[in-house]
Amino acid sequence: VTFRLARVSDAEDELLLTVEHERLVAPRKGEVRWASFDASAYSDADKAVGIEAWQARALTEMHSLALFTQLATQVQLLGAPLDWSGAFARINEDEVRHVDLSLRMSQVLGGPATVELDEAAFHLHPRRGQSLRAHVRQTIVGAFCIGETLSGRMFRRALQAATVPLARDVVSAVLVDETFHGEFGWEVGALLMRPHDGFEEERAALAAQLPELFAHFARASCVTGGREWTFAQPEVAPGENFGTLTDEGYARAFFEGMDADVVPALEAIGLPEARAAWDGLLAKLG
Ligand SMILES: [Fe+2]
Ligand SMILES: [Fe+2]
Repeated sequence: VTFRLARVSDAEDELLLTVEHERLVAPRKGEVRWASFDASAYSDADKAVGIEAWQARALTEMHSLALFTQLATQVQLLGAPLDWSGAFARINEDEVRHVDLSLRMSQVLGGPATVELDEAAFHLHPRRGQSLRAHVRQTIVGAFCIGETLSGRMFRRALQAATVPLARDVVSAVLVDETFHGEFGWEVGALLMRPHDGFEEERAALAAQLPELFAHFARASCVTGGREWTFAQPEVAPGENFGTLTDEGYARAFFEGMDADVVPALEAIGLPEARAAWDGLLAKLG
């Protein structure tokens, strides 16, 4: 599937569809100064780095949107209170905004305003034999508690790295949202760890998934070596910066985020196995 930034009404701009979308994708705080951006002021090499990063972000944001839209249905099927639906409605608005911002960044830098989706890469369905509740819990622990927490940390570093005013606007807009998503994830993650009939079996299965989940996020965070090596590499490439880190910069945020936030918080919500899983991955990475 090719997903396009283009609005249905790009030609005839009065459709409610588009009007409502434009309202929604405006940042919750501040503004994005698209109009004052002059792409010709920047080198092709710097822009190419920006395009690659914002294309990759468009894809991960699209994954978040698809996954969280489905989660919103699933928590309703589990009989979650209505405030879960409200919070998910906000989160899904945010992910639409992030896809839009990422593709527009790519576009204004001269890159494509499309992203290719591969349905097989979405983890949308419960595993064989897994209850819906266990699936939702695992998705929230993985995508929110771990994923959004790491993403918030990466965007915070990317904001410090960004030298281009437009990129600072866009990264700030995403960061406001991702910070909320991470905090929301820990709150609902803790609520989903409250015991019920059959809970211990589900909890143990989730704990057993942690090494695989950690390894997945290490790959997604461009980790290719151990902590010491990673921290010895530059975090940011030279030149004008469109809100990007080097691969090692993302990897560094992974190590820092896992140490400072993710592992202690997983222990706190009732997954003490997180510590051994993390030590195991660190040993493997050297
Ligand atoms: Fe996002
Ligand atoms: Fe998010």
